Amino acid sequence: MEQYRDFAFIYDELMNDVDYDKWVDYVEEIIKKEGAQVQNILELACGTGNMTIPLTKKGYDIAGIDISREMLEVALEKAEKEGVELVLLQQDIAELDFDVENLDCVLCACDGFNYITYDDDLENVFTKVHELLKPGGIFIFDISSYYKLSEILGNNIYGENREDVAYMWRNCFDPEENLVEMELAFFVKDEDGKFDRFEEIHQQRAYTEEEIIDILSDSGFEDIKVYSDFEFESPKEDSERLFFVCRK
Ligand SMILES: C[S@@+](CC[C@H](N)C(=O)[O-])C[C@H]1O[C@@H](n2cnc3c(N)ncnc32)[C@H](O)[C@@H]1O
Repeated sequence: MEQYRDFAFIYDELMNDVDYDKWVDYVEEIIKKEGAQVQNILELACGTGNMTIPLTKKGYDIAGIDISREMLEVALEKAEKEGVELVLLQQDIAELDFDVENLDCVLCACDGFNYITYDDDLENVFTKVHELLKPGGIFIFDISSYYKLSEILGNNIYGENREDVAYMWRNCFDPEENLVEMELAFFVKDEDGKFDRFEEIHQQRAYTEEEIIDILSDSGFEDIKVYSDFEFESPKEDSERLFFVCRK
C-alpha cells in the first residue's frame, strides 16, 4: 500500500498546526550561526512544498525531491497559485540521483529520513549528499526522535473528527526492528457531502541520536551538531525532534 497517495490531498489540512514560518526561520538561523554561504538548496522529501515555497520566495535557488507524485502535484498547484516556480523531481531518496554538484546546502525537513528504514539505505543517501555538497557545504535535517516514535506515537491510537475530514490512526511499535507501523484510515467529505474512505500504511524507523551520528560519520561528515525542538540546545531524553547539522 503506497504512502502519501490520497493522503497528499489532505496533508496540508491535517498539518495546519505546524508553524512552517518558524521552521524556515530556524533553518536560516542555523545557516547564519554556521556562517555558511547558501544560495542553492536541494530539499529531500519536500512533500507539498511547505518549506520549498517560502524558501524560494526568500530568494534561494531550490530543487525539491519527493517519492510521492501526489505530494509533488499539490506542491506545484500551491506554487502556481502563489506565482512561484518550483523545480521538483519524483524520486526515491534511498536511490538519490541528482546531477548538479557543488551544492551549498542539502535540507530534509519533518521526518523524511524516518521513512528510510534500513541503515544501508540511509548511509547511501548520506554518502550521496556528501558527494553533492561543495566543500564546506551544509547538511541540515531533522528526525522524529527514538523517544517520540517508541514512547509517544508508540502503540497509541489517535483519531480526529473534523468538519470535512476524519481519521483513525493506529500505531504498532516493533522494538526489535525499531519500526513503527502506522495504520491510517481517512474519511474525506466529497462535493455531495458523502464521506470517501481510504487507507494508508506508513512505516517509520526510530533511529537513536548515536545511530544517526555513526551513519553520518561513516558517510564522510565531520563536526556533527545535534539540536532539539527548534532550540540550539542538546537533545534531552524527552526531546521529540532532533536536528542534525553537519558540514562537508
Ligand atoms: C512528513 S512528510 C514531510 C514533507 C515536507 N518535508 C514537509 O515538511 O511538509 C514526509 C515526506 O517524505 C516523503 N518520502 C517518504 N519516503 C521517501 C523516499 N524514500 N524518497 C523520497 N521521499 C520520501 C513522503 O512522500 C512525504 O512527502
